[in-house]
Amino acid sequence: MRHLIDPLDFSVEEIDALLDLADRIAANPTAYQGVCAHKKLATLFYEPSTRTRLSFEAAMLNLGGAVLGFAGADSSSAAKGESVADTIRAISCYADIAAIRHPKEGAPLRAARYSRIPVINAGDGGHQHPTQTLTDLMTIRRRKGRLGGLTIGLCGDLKFGRTVHSLIKSLARYANMEFVLISPEELRVPEYILSEALEPQHIPYRQLSSLEQAMPHLDILYMTRVQRERFFNEEDYIRLKDTYVLNADKMKLAQPDMAVLHPLPRVNEITLDVDDDPRAAYFEQAQNGVYVRMALIMTLLELTDQGGALC
Ligand code: NCD
Repeated sequence: MRHLIDPLDFSVEEIDALLDLADRIAANPTAYQGVCAHKKLATLFYEPSTRTRLSFEAAMLNLGGAVLGFAGADSSSAAKGESVADTIRAISCYADIAAIRHPKEGAPLRAARYSRIPVINAGDGGHQHPTQTLTDLMTIRRRKGRLGGLTIGLCGDLKFGRTVHSLIKSLARYANMEFVLISPEELRVPEYILSEALEPQHIPYRQLSSLEQAMPHLDILYMTRVQRERFFNEEDYIRLKDTYVLNADKMKLAQPDMAVLHPLPRVNEITLDVDDDPRAAYFEQAQNGVYVRMALIMTLLELTDQGGALC
């Protein structure tokens, strides 16, 4: 049985196959509408979510399956003190696959150890978010036609932003990548990401504090929100929250085919005047999230696809 807990749980070849399947689904979604008939997805969300939970649910419904779950620790037995290990043992009796979001780093991994069904990490604290990464990879591949040979700028809260950690780990596996890490001093990428994902392979990276300085060199700009809920005090959040604001003026500094990604939700870090720029890819990302999660559910449930005709 396979789980998706860490972005590196799938090999590069497996990711390619999954993204190919997601592309086929995007081209012909109705061909997949009965694939998960009589299957159930449980969404166990102990933290707020809009896109991740609803795109998982939409994905399962699009495949003809059913969904059950909760959207907040308060409405589950976690409020009574139940452990994730016990919860997943029960959920294993009710569903065929589960997606878990939890504020504690490592909670989905712990759940996977006790589970009898595939477990998907839908975000664990400030740690990892592998399904957002699949969404990001699909969007980059569709926009740029490839996953290697790109210079990507990641901007904002690189310390607590779990989508950033997972994306760096994943993209580091492709050839000729360059990373420009744009953040205030206090919100730099954690040391373990640099020392585990980039440095051993001598992948070039720069740490900058100026977005303007980085802009002209980027093939992709990945903006992020400052993660208020992970700050120890509100004053630091207020001081740092508007460090980077991407607007139409700054977009003039960028290459004409740069793609702007953002996992969303945005707060102030991208102004509305960027939305109509053809380089803005963040709403496309939200759409791709459904296709990629359809592909992921099929892959983990071992439902094979032969060019749209299922067996
Ligand atoms: C992200 C997350 O939850 O980490 N959101 C998402 O899943 N699309 C990013 C964020 O909350 O800033």
